[in-house]
Amino acid sequence: MESKYRRIDAKIAQLMQDGLGDNTVFIDEESLQKYSHDETEDLKYLPEIVVKPNAVEQVSWILEFCNKENIAVTPMGARTGLSGGALPVCGGVALSMERLNRIIEIDEDNQQVTVEPGVITQVLMEAVEEKGLYYAPDPASKGSCFIGGNIAENSGGPRAVKYGVTKDWVLNLEVVLPTGEVIWTGAHTLKNSTGYNLTQLIVGSEGTLGIVTKAVLKLIPRPTHALLMMVPFLSARKACQAVSAIFRAGVTPSALEFMEQDAIKITTDFMGGSPLDLPKSAKAHLLIEVDGSDLEYLMKQCETISNTLSEFDCEQILFAEDEAQKNRLWAMRRKVGEAVKAQSVYKEEDTVVPRYCLPDLLEGVKALGKEYGFQSVCYGHAGDGNLHINILKGDLSQEEWDVELPKAIAKLFLLTKKLKGTLSGEHGIGLVQKAYMPLVFSDVEMNLMRKIKDVFDPKGILNPSKILPDLGK
Ligand code: LAC
Ligand code: ZN
Repeated sequence: MESKYRRIDAKIAQLMQDGLGDNTVFIDEESLQKYSHDETEDLKYLPEIVVKPNAVEQVSWILEFCNKENIAVTPMGARTGLSGGALPVCGGVALSMERLNRIIEIDEDNQQVTVEPGVITQVLMEAVEEKGLYYAPDPASKGSCFIGGNIAENSGGPRAVKYGVTKDWVLNLEVVLPTGEVIWTGAHTLKNSTGYNLTQLIVGSEGTLGIVTKAVLKLIPRPTHALLMMVPFLSARKACQAVSAIFRAGVTPSALEFMEQDAIKITTDFMGGSPLDLPKSAKAHLLIEVDGSDLEYLMKQCETISNTLSEFDCEQILFAEDEAQKNRLWAMRRKVGEAVKAQSVYKEEDTVVPRYCLPDLLEGVKALGKEYGFQSVCYGHAGDGNLHINILKGDLSQEEWDVELPKAIAKLFLLTKKLKGTLSGEHGIGLVQKAYMPLVFSDVEMNLMRKIKDVFDPKGILNPSKILPDLGK
């Protein structure tokens, strides 16, 4: 199909080079290849040009130019995303935000920080921790992902269960619109009841409405202690049932992660060993952390958790003995996605349901696996009802993978909807989930989203072919 976007010929490339100056525009094969993928499956789409602005003025110039010339622009962070949000599906410009990577100000008096989008999440966490402050959202890829990407996808991570996801930490955003105009979405305040909430509209909009060039984020005092336990269960269903009981017992853990047996096996094989001596008979584990500043209180919380879990046939609870063991357990949990990816071609689903419905979701996934003949590896943020379901290609034929599996995935999403959940808890819709959007939104709801897109980006140049099923090429 003929693209509706203008192609980048030598003349356009020269105009961009002239407008942006040396060492900002790249058309060499290596750059085009590098920016052709994120971490989504094995998908690749070549951009026609890569630009790396180092200031908001340059971002503004690029968008104004591309809007005028009708050129597709795909914004990119660290390209660690799992839903294809950073894939330049329509070619055009790969707009990498990597050079806008300054921590502009840590405001200790107001407990907030102003950053550019290309700051690595962990770099930000460590910078504020040095001042006794805390930025909690901790996606598995925190060591490489960017804050800008976290904002675009509304990323979560294990601590979201107690501290919320990225949106809960964003106070105000500087955003460049497709016209090149620069706006602030709100104010640097903890509360704001002033008009429509543009800040939260931009969060999670996957670079389809505007480009974030500065973010003001909330901080809190850093918790000083954390206790971590690994709990084996003989039944995965019981492990899932135990999750909501912990909250009902009055404890909000700072992490409550689920890993079924295969997730642990694949990951420990991948890492060449297990951080703890885990019982082979266990069908699933919960990794549970409590944090705070009063160690005695945390011990009491652990006691409440262990009393609660004993009603769900758990095996001997293993407590992490020291920091090194804690780190090893967390390293294992964070590596599950990467380990599964190394094992087989796979598809990743990011289903989320109210946490009490988690056992029904897990059972439904396994039933669909039997019906359609696929193996799934399930793990994730059980405390949030957010189950990552990795479906392995394994022995499935290409036909079963391409034609039958999407039917199974649609059934899976209908189940999450029946359980009052939805498609994605934290990875976003991007490219690979957009076809399923009409399963969870009515025509009226989809139309509202289309109109919002149209208000911000009437020519559809920004991150085309994402989120909304019928926009793009
Ligand atoms: C995780 C990523 C895949 O939780 O979201 O490991
Ligand atoms: Zn996750």
